[in-house]
Amino acid sequence: MSETCRTPRPICKIGEIDPGTVKRVDVHGLPPLAVYNVAGRFYVTDDACSHGKASLSEGYVEGAEIECPWHGGRFDIASGRATCLPAAEPVATYAVTVVGDEVCIGA
Ligand code: FES
Repeated sequence: MSETCRTPRPICKIGEIDPGTVKRVDVHGLPPLAVYNVAGRFYVTDDACSHGKASLSEGYVEGAEIECPWHGGRFDIASGRATCLPAAEPVATYAVTVVGDEVCIGA
């Protein structure tokens, strides 16, 4: 692995995402991402729902889960695991670190 791959990559500021909310972030070279603030901890998943490609960042954060706005499928935000049908396949998650006031992935 190159040094670049181990370097945390800033994707947004922590102040952009209030606790209990989610925001879509577009990062060059990656699919659209959903960045979550769950009680002050940050998590990142792919933004596209694994069921029908709805934007999860337009869904509803319910505790530690995100509910898809289209059909009500749910995912565990930390693991990406589908927790409620019709969502059955997981969504990808990313390793997250906070460096200063920035949310970073790929540590
Ligand atoms: S598109 Fe997300 S549950 Fe159907």
